[in-house]
Amino acid sequence: MNLEEAKKKLEQFGQQHVLKYYDGLTTEQQQELLEQIEATDFSVLKKCSELGKAGGRGTFSPLAAMQLDEIAANREQFTKTGVETIKAGKVAAVLLAGGMGTRLGSDNPKGMYDIGITKHVYIFQRIIENLLDTVKQADGSWIHLFIMTSEKNHEATVRFMKEHDYFGYRADRITFFKQDMAPASDYNGKVYMEAQNRISTSPNGNAGWFSSMLKAGLDQTLHAEGIEWIDVFAVDNVLQRIADPCFVGATVSRKVSVGSKVVRKNAPDEKVGVMCLEDGKPSIVEYYELSDEMKDAKDANGDPAYNYGVILNYLFNEPALEKIARKELPLHVVEKKIPCLDADGNLVKPEQPNGCKFEQLVLDMIHELDSCLPYEVVREHEFAPIKNKTGVDSVESARELCEKNHIEL
Ligand code: UTP
Repeated sequence: MNLEEAKKKLEQFGQQHVLKYYDGLTTEQQQELLEQIEATDFSVLKKCSELGKAGGRGTFSPLAAMQLDEIAANREQFTKTGVETIKAGKVAAVLLAGGMGTRLGSDNPKGMYDIGITKHVYIFQRIIENLLDTVKQADGSWIHLFIMTSEKNHEATVRFMKEHDYFGYRADRITFFKQDMAPASDYNGKVYMEAQNRISTSPNGNAGWFSSMLKAGLDQTLHAEGIEWIDVFAVDNVLQRIADPCFVGATVSRKVSVGSKVVRKNAPDEKVGVMCLEDGKPSIVEYYELSDEMKDAKDANGDPAYNYGVILNYLFNEPALEKIARKELPLHVVEKKIPCLDADGNLVKPEQPNGCKFEQLVLDMIHELDSCLPYEVVREHEFAPIKNKTGVDSVESARELCEKNHIEL
């Protein structure tokens, strides 16, 4: 794209300020900026007017979860099916590690965070140790682990994993891929600049993983290896079991498009997304969308009908995903702290949210699918998310939970 074409494109979207520093850049920097302008989809920015407005949703109804007692009664059979499925090479895992971890406030990728007390225990290390438990349970069948990064943290993540010898995982069973990026803007939809020759961008949300895998040509790997199930999980839950045979067996046995690990809510108004049906299809209702009527609704056993919160650990059926792969997922506007240039052209890192990012969310992927099995796990054993340094869902709370589960830190 040449300068004239770039000007035209920017004018079309009211983003002419992107060229403010153009004349002072080196030829190489000018070229980089023109390439980024060409590659950027500025049409998403008009969405910023939707910030804080919940999108129109359909009619919600309960979706029963498979509860702990049912899982316990079938554990042997589910585990056997799961182990067989893993040993047949049909299960892969995708680690979502493309996020920016802004709440944790570290400059490094979240997985590099050290939660150790008497020794180093990195978040990535905990994830790999958990996955190695599954490999052991499946008699040494190595699960192909795909790690999604973003252009912001890719090099650091790959270098760190290599330096630590992949924490004992087989290097040839790990594949890294990068997710797509989206521009980030102020509240009026004007893109921020993160350098004089670079528009601010951020990863495009946790649902970008499958389309990014396809873009990287990894569907060929999935097909060549005969992978039928993909366990997708967040980087920041240091206790979760990954592709554990019982969960795999339950999901496979129920012949659903996706299994979703859920925990029983600890209070009717706990701030978690709850598994449900929306217009008859699986979905997730956010805590702020739960009406009093829904909060009071009871299931056949007299328990709350909307009682199971998602923990971002899903087992997707691969062919079912391919069927929906071409569908455009909605974009959500999220308020975040976005590093940007100030009026004098200096980079600042804001203390408070200063604009909008645009993300696709995994819940919209689930809603495209025909069927879902919410699968209950014990919160104290499987849910220790690290979002913040202290307080709720923090390094502190995760450390306490690790200790309760006899994990040395
Ligand atoms: P969060 O929604 O908690 O976001 O991600 P985050 O980026 O880690 O943290 P904050 O909000 O900036 O503090 C949940 C999971 O989804 C991944 C994250 O890496 C984490 O595993 N994720 C999120 C991506 O892989 N890509 C994204 O674009 C967003």
